[in-house]
Amino acid sequence: MRAFLTYPCALLLALPLAAGAADAGEFAARRAEVMRRIGPDGMLILLSPPAQVRNGDVEWPYRQDDNLLYLTGLGNADTTLVLVPGEAAHREVVFTRDSDPAEELWNGRVPGADEVSARSGVAEVASAARFEAFIRAAMEGKAWGDSTVYRSFATAGLPAWQRKVREGKAVVWMLQEERGFGGQAGPAQAFIERLRRSYPELQFRDAFPLLTEMRMRKTPAEIAIVQRAVDTTVAAQKAAMRRALTATHEYQVEATIEYVFRDSGACCWGFPSIVASGRNATTLHYESNDDPIAPGSLVLSDIGAEVEGYTADVTRTYPQSGRFSPEQRAIYEAVLRAQAATIALMMPGAYMRDLHEVAIRSLGEDLLRLGLVSRNERDQVRMYFPHGLGHDLGLRVHDVDDPSHPLAPGRIVTSEPGIYVRAADVRANPAYRALPAAERAGIDAALSRYDGIGVRIEDDILITTGAPRNLSAAAPRTVAEIEAWMAGDDH
Ligand code: GLY
Ligand code: MN
Ligand code: MN
Repeated sequence: MRAFLTYPCALLLALPLAAGAADAGEFAARRAEVMRRIGPDGMLILLSPPAQVRNGDVEWPYRQDDNLLYLTGLGNADTTLVLVPGEAAHREVVFTRDSDPAEELWNGRVPGADEVSARSGVAEVASAARFEAFIRAAMEGKAWGDSTVYRSFATAGLPAWQRKVREGKAVVWMLQEERGFGGQAGPAQAFIERLRRSYPELQFRDAFPLLTEMRMRKTPAEIAIVQRAVDTTVAAQKAAMRRALTATHEYQVEATIEYVFRDSGACCWGFPSIVASGRNATTLHYESNDDPIAPGSLVLSDIGAEVEGYTADVTRTYPQSGRFSPEQRAIYEAVLRAQAATIALMMPGAYMRDLHEVAIRSLGEDLLRLGLVSRNERDQVRMYFPHGLGHDLGLRVHDVDDPSHPLAPGRIVTSEPGIYVRAADVRANPAYRALPAAERAGIDAALSRYDGIGVRIEDDILITTGAPRNLSAAAPRTVAEIEAWMAGDDH
């Protein structure tokens, strides 16, 4: 999975949504903005992904497409949104599954049209079974929405759109390319091909960049939801630290974390929890969480509760014993310094790629002091810090972003520097091998002291017009705070 290449953990299948990401007015405002951007020649069509089979007749918990969720708040499968800004009637239509008592006996209630409408703010709700008929009506000038009109006398249901189609001006906007980490081609591809073949006069545009630009800057409602996800995650980190004092295995800490998620009302995690002790913390995407916790080792938990579709992403690293050893502390404080240096610069106008370089330079100063590098050079520092500084956070843990944009108020990004000391990997690294023997010997001496220590510290930062706001600041972070919290100090 591509996520592993750049960030410490992968986005796997997320669990289903609790209700209520924002109110219907907010969804309506987002759709109005999309319609403004695509203009009167456009039609946006968003399809929900199919359910995924786990094995036999067991499915994975259903996860709605992020963009469909963003524009409607609707979490169910078989949901389609159509926006037609140039049309007087039928500007917004949602297609959803019909209620069916026989099916609902087995699989639960299907929301009725009134509920779908109240949740999303879309007035026109039609049966998913009629979507094909809608497409024919739109593209071929057939009637739509009034089944009592005798066919031969029916006029075009979407006359303005039909005119655009005939004039060759009609532009269909869909998610053509699922970009970003772990992205897969969505259900749109096959549908687009079918439309292209049936209606060669249509033009197609990718809605992904437009929606990305909107989603990058979070609204106050979104920020409040992320804060709830973060608060639950902070509570889980605090519980995890105390559980680590007595846990014999990583999975016990994981269980405590996920207990707090559910007990707090979060639906689930936004990505699989990483609970890595000792040397496992130097494996970036360790997530089996099965090993014993060795006495005196560090425990790294990289976790995020999901609330109403939005995930937190917070990492803490703490000593199983409740006290850092001098070596653990030295590495920890190097990471903490780098993190503080980058968070302070998370201001409008800054680029994440520049902050990444700030982290590398800061880590390099400390790695040099500890003897783990022979010079503060990028290639040497990358032997210990191989991933990115951070990423946007929202409906995905690695949320949509556009790296050509600098930080701006409303963006939420992580700062997550780390140092992972893997002696064998360092000795195999070309940057190490290129060094003179005396410099390699110096590094070897430091490696024998710090090998097997992995530390990452990750917080979720809201960019504002002024100072950055650390949404996860309530999780103990300094050595003193962590040791005090683990010693039972509740302040
Ligand atoms: N938990 C995934 C990441 O830190 O990027
Ligand atoms: Mn993380
Ligand atoms: Mn992260």
